[in-house]
Order: sequence, then structure tokens, then C-alpha cells
Amino acid sequence: MKDDIQNNKLLILGKLAASLAHEIRNPLSAIKLNLDYLQMTDVNSGEGAECIDSSMEAVNRIQQLIENTLDFSKAPNSDQEDCSLNEVVLQAVGILKSVSRKQNVKIETELDENISLLVLNKNKILQVFLNFLNNSIDALGTEGTIKVVTAENKENVYFYVEDNGIGISDEDQKKIFNDFFTKKETGTGLGLSVCKQLLDEHGAEIKLDSELGKGTKFTVLFPENLRVLK
Ligand SMILES: Nc1ncnc2c1ncn2[C@@H]1O[C@H](COP(=O)(O)OP(=O)(O)OP(=O)(O)O)[C@@H](O)[C@H]1O
Ligand SMILES: [Mg+2]
Repeated sequence: MKDDIQNNKLLILGKLAASLAHEIRNPLSAIKLNLDYLQMTDVNSGEGAECIDSSMEAVNRIQQLIENTLDFSKAPNSDQEDCSLNEVVLQAVGILKSVSRKQNVKIETELDENISLLVLNKNKILQVFLNFLNNSIDALGTEGTIKVVTAENKENVYFYVEDNGIGISDEDQKKIFNDFFTKKETGTGLGLSVCKQLLDEHGAEIKLDSELGKGTKFTVLFPENLRVLK
């Protein structure tokens, strides 16, 4: 019994370390791309300043990720605030600007200007967008378009991220949310399991529509009780 508990603790710790490593890799690669770009450009130009801002943002996010992970005693969901999905989308797109520019990927946004605010942990939802967008960028390879849409209806405030990349087979669709499931040489297979965990914490539902060779659409529906009344 004691051994079981100890093993379970080790498993959780291992998963925690792996997911921290996974989430840290994204902002780090953003910093690296920005610094590469700065080496080739006039630092005082508009684009140079943009790269410095983007790198600063990535550094702040690494700091936040480490703090979140180390702070075990924090009550779950203690960092909730009223926030607009649109704001989080724009932040995520800004962070990935250099990565998408490098791969000739265009990220189009279609944001409902009058969308209701939601009570969310903003950092966690930002992580979700970054993971979906990074997967779409990977699925498109060296060229393509990703569409991010926010909207609401009577039942839900929702968003979707859609790409016309390689798509996911029916068989793989059953496995993609599992820990460590990856088809990429350097993937950890934790991106979507982290997304699922963070969205579960918000009571949000994920829907997947994908067809091999055609593309993939992830829709996330937030529950009514998170909507801030207008
Ligand atoms: N938009 C997408 N288009 C095609 N396949 C996808 C898409 N999103 C996810 N997948 C598939 O799901 C798998 C699991 O994704 P997940 O984000 O969990 O891990 P990963 O992307 O492989 O690794 P990492 O997130 O560490 O880079 C991917 O390897 C890929 O095969
Ligand atoms: Mg991923």
C-alpha cells in the first residue's frame, strides 16, 4: 500500500516535471527565434523593438509557469479573473508571431467584438491557445492558414482553432489527449493532455473535428456559469 502511494507520487511528479518542461519549451523557442532575428536586424527599428517586447513577454511567462508549478499549496482556481477570450487570443497570436512568420503560416482571427467576459485563469487559457496553435503550425508545415474564431450563443461562449493541415486519422483521434501520445520526432505528447487538464479545471468541453489530409478543428465550449453577465 505504502509503495503504491509512493509510486503514484513519483508518477505525478514525473508528469509534472515533463509538463513543466513542455510548457517552458514554447516561450524559450520564441525567445531564441526573436534573438536570432535581432542578430540580423537593426535593433532600433520597429521590428527590432517588437522582438524585444515579444522576448520579454516570453521570459515573464516562463517565470509564471515556474511559479505556478512550484506553488503546490495554492488553492486550485485561485487566480480567476474576468477576462475576454479575444484578449487572450491576441496575446497568443502575438507570442507566436515570429514562429509563424518563419514558417509562412498566417494566423487569421475572427473575434466577436461584443463577446461576454468569462471568469478564467488567464494564464492557463493562454497556455491552451498556445498549445492548439503550436499544433496547427506543426500540422501545416511550411505554409498555410490558421483561423481562430471567438463567438457566443445562448448556451455557450466558445472558440475554435482551425487549420487545413495534415489532419488526424480516426484511430489517432482516440489517443491524442493521452499523456505522451505523439507522432512527432521531438514531441513530448503532453500538449493536448495539458490542454484537457486546464480546460477540465474550467468545466469546459473540447470538441474535435478532423479529417486526414483535410485539416483539424478544435472547438472549446465554456460553461454558462463562467459567463459574466453584461
Ligand atoms: N492540429 C493538428 N493537426 C494534426 N495533428 C494534430 C493536431 N493537433 C494535434 N495533433 C496530433 O496529436 C498529437 C498529440 O499532440 P500533443 O500536442 O499532445 O503532443 P505533440 O504536439 O506531439 O508534442 P508537443 O506538444 O510536446 O510538441 C500530435 O503528435 C499530432 O499527431
Ligand atoms: Mg503539441
